[in-house]
Amino acid sequence: MTAEPHGFITRVIHWVSAALIGYGYLKGLDSVSQLADPAVLRFEVSFALGLCVLFVGRFAWTKYVAGPTRLPNEAPKWEHQLSRAVHLGLYASVFGIVLSGLGIALAYSTPLISGIVVAGLVGLHEFFLIVLPALLCCHVAGALWHRLVRRDGVMESMTGKLGQSRIGERNTSPRDQSIV
Ligand code: HEM
Ligand code: HEM
Repeated sequence: MTAEPHGFITRVIHWVSAALIGYGYLKGLDSVSQLADPAVLRFEVSFALGLCVLFVGRFAWTKYVAGPTRLPNEAPKWEHQLSRAVHLGLYASVFGIVLSGLGIALAYSTPLISGIVVAGLVGLHEFFLIVLPALLCCHVAGALWHRLVRRDGVMESMTGKLGQSRIGERNTSPRDQSIV
């Protein structure tokens, strides 16, 4: 069975989140001392809060409105479990980065909190900054598995036409037009 595509809004949220995460990695700070610049500190906090709101909203959207996965019901149980685990891991690592970042900002701006707390939070921040790309590799490998091996339309459910081969396979299900 071919997977139904995710709706337009779900895809927009997915790819805007991916672009913002990519941007976050490109502009990452080099050291704690950069937070001495109030403009940098303000920007980091606003960016982290924006990502936090986006990912909380996205989680609620997926859970209550759009539905979490387009994996066909007949897919093996291990695929369902693995994909759910990786999706939850992606959310957890994004929240880990955001919350440790906000913790760093709070600790840095509060003179009573020692440098050891800041150092610990930076360690946590860096831990999640490594876990997220590792999980993303599994996520993309999973998408390619569905594209190249299963050929069940799960990758195309999020990539749309970009993931479709030029020689057909166009899914003409009515859900193709779905906005959700
Ligand atoms: C920073 C980058 C990315 C993040 C944080 C991310 C996160 C997620 C999450 C959490 C889901 C589960 C649905 C949801 O809760 O919205 C999902 C679905 C999906 N993502 Fe990504 N993703 C990223 C990049 C990519 C890339 C590069 C691909 C490449 C093809 C991809 C393909 C998919 C597909 C096909 C689904 C649908 C899976 C299904 O229906 O079961 N994602 N993504
Ligand atoms: C309040 C929010 C944030 C604060 C205060 C903050 C603070 C910091 C600090 C102090 C460092 C330097 C760590 C070191 O000394 O090695 C750092 C590194 C970094 N941060 Fe954040 N951060 C925040 C949010 C984010 C967010 C939302 C992202 C998004 C992905 C992010 C991505 C990075 C990256 C990629 C690095 C470089 C890590 C490395 O090269 O080892 N940060 N951050």
